[in-house]
Amino acid sequence: MASQANLRQKQTKVLCFANNKGGSGKSTSCANVGYALAQQGKRVLLLDGDMQMNLSLSFFPEDQVLEMAQGEKNLYHAIREQKPLTDYILPTAYTGLDLIPSSTLMSGIEYELFTKWQREMILKKCLQPVRDSGEYDYILLDAPPTLGGWVMNLLCAADALILPVEASPWGLFGLANMFEFLAAVREMNPTLTLLGIALTKVSVRKNYFKQTMEILGEMEDVYVFDSIIRVDSTIEWAQDSSRPVGAYKASSRSAQEYAALAKEVEARVHRKE
Ligand SMILES: Nc1ncnc2c1ncn2[C@@H]1O[C@H](COP(=O)(O)OP(=O)(O)OP(=O)(O)O)[C@@H](O)[C@H]1O
Ligand SMILES: [Mg+2]
Repeated sequence: MASQANLRQKQTKVLCFANNKGGSGKSTSCANVGYALAQQGKRVLLLDGDMQMNLSLSFFPEDQVLEMAQGEKNLYHAIREQKPLTDYILPTAYTGLDLIPSSTLMSGIEYELFTKWQREMILKKCLQPVRDSGEYDYILLDAPPTLGGWVMNLLCAADALILPVEASPWGLFGLANMFEFLAAVREMNPTLTLLGIALTKVSVRKNYFKQTMEILGEMEDVYVFDSIIRVDSTIEWAQDSSRPVGAYKASSRSAQEYAALAKEVEARVHRKE
C-alpha cells in the first residue's frame, strides 16, 4: 500500500518555464502564474534558476535580493554543495507561496556542474526532499534564456514545460532549437511533457499576432493556451514595486489574464488524472 508521503509526493507537479529566446515572459509568467495558483488555494514553491534574479525581484526589493545573492542561502550554493533544497526556502509575503532565491553567481554554474557525477540530475536530486515532503502542489522553475547543462538540469527536474512565447516578429525565432533541445532532454527525462505554449506580450490588433497564432496552429502536438497575456504596463509597474500584478492591482486585466492562465495550467496538469 502506498504511504501517505508517496501519495502526497505524487501530487507535487514540477513545471519549468523555459525558452532560449530572451525576454519572452518566462520570469513574469512564472511569478504571476505562481501567485495566481496560490490565490486559488494551491501551495506553491517558486525556484529562481536565473542569475538575473528576476523571479526573486518579483517578490523582494532589490536590496534584499542583493543580500540573498551575496549570502549562502541561495540556489547556487545549494547546487554547488549538492544540498537538499528544503533548507533554502523563504516565505514570500503571500499565503501558500514560497521562493528559493537565485544568485548572480549562477553565471558560473555550468563550470560547477562540469566535473560532477550525473551532472544533469543534480537539481532533481536536491529537489527530491522537497517533493517528498508533500508540502507543495506545484514547484515552478524559472529558466534562464540559454540551452546548456543548467537548463538541462531544470528540465530533468520537471514533469512538464511551459513555453512562454512573445507574440512579436522575432518571437518564434529559435523555437526549432528549443524543440531539438527538448528531444535531447527527453533521452534523460522521457516523461517530460510540453504542457503548452503561453503567448505573452500580445497586441491583438497587430498582424504578427495573427501570424504567430497561424504558425503555432500548424504545429503538431503543440497545445497553445487559450489564455493569452496582453501587453500591459501594469505588469512593469507591479515589477517595479516587487509585487505580482494580482497583488499590485487585482482588478487589472493582466491579473485576470494570469488568473485564467493559472486555471488552465491546473486543468491541463490534471487532464488525465
Ligand atoms: N504582458 C506584458 N506587458 C508588458 N511588459 C511585459 C509583459 N510581460 C513581460 N513584460 C516585460 O518584458 C520584459 C521581459 O519579460 P521577462 O523578464 O518576464 O522575460 P524572460 O523571458 O524571463 O526574460 P529573460 O530571457 O531575460 O529571462 C520585462 O521587462 C517585463 O517587464
Ligand atoms: Mg527571466
